[in-house]
Amino acid sequence: ISPKYRFLKEQGLRPEKQLPSALIIGVKKGGTRALLEFIRVHPDVRAAGSEVHFFDRNYAKGFRWYRERMPATLEGQLTIEKTPSYFITKEAPRRVQLMNPSTKLLVVVRDPVTRAISDYTQAISKKPEMKPFEQLVFVNGSIGSIIDTSWGPIKLGIYSRYLSRWLKFFPLSQLLFVSGERLVVDPAIELKRVQDFLGLKRVVTEKHFYFNTTKGFPCLFKSEGNSAPHCLGKTKGRNHPYVNPAVLQRLRDFYRPFNNHFYQMTGIHFGWT
Ligand code: A3P
Repeated sequence: ISPKYRFLKEQGLRPEKQLPSALIIGVKKGGTRALLEFIRVHPDVRAAGSEVHFFDRNYAKGFRWYRERMPATLEGQLTIEKTPSYFITKEAPRRVQLMNPSTKLLVVVRDPVTRAISDYTQAISKKPEMKPFEQLVFVNGSIGSIIDTSWGPIKLGIYSRYLSRWLKFFPLSQLLFVSGERLVVDPAIELKRVQDFLGLKRVVTEKHFYFNTTKGFPCLFKSEGNSAPHCLGKTKGRNHPYVNPAVLQRLRDFYRPFNNHFYQMTGIHFGWT
């Protein structure tokens, strides 16, 4: 228990758990862990450590259960949670709206082609007998056939489809799209946008990051409650397998119209080509 908390306790002001007022809802493999670890450095932010999966798997347990999973906050601190599957969960928009219609929603997006490979890389790390990516992409397992849009890693990259569902319940102004690519190249720029969106002082800046050449990614000089340098774990920033360039091209062509639709909906050109 920190001196600050002890002081508050002595004053009779106990820190309390609150339902989140902001959620990182997706997308899987977009860079959601990085965003959460970076924003929680902010002294006015408290985050649930692991994915709570309330709006998809645990909704029946109720809001009291959900609140119990949250860290205690002091007055003025914002509670945040990240579960990337919320973005693609049909019932999630309605349920989040029911909890609090002014919930702020953060979505980290990444080129759907690299996202698909990242998703596959994660899957094969758990299930090494999986077929090669190039086979799974196509309905008949070969480049001559059509793209298998029922395969999770492909389907999930059609962002516009999932976004339409959220926009039935939330105005666009309540969503912030974070570029997964820029989060790697220049985390401070994205963090500035995130802090402004959340109504926070700009505390997390370029001074918090350094590029770790061994990891090949930006890392934090110090993380929440820890003064030692901190990179994300081994499961973040995996080496991707080689993918046949012709397959990559097919995928880019496939996603182009969906990406353009997504750019139109968000008013942001993410530059995936
Ligand atoms: P790869 O492992 O494919 O490189 P998520 O946390 O949503 O699962 O996203 C994982 C992805 O976050 C990683 O995918 C990696 O590219 C990206 N990422 C962004 N910033 C990172 C950072 N500072 N350290 C490690 N990975 C980061």
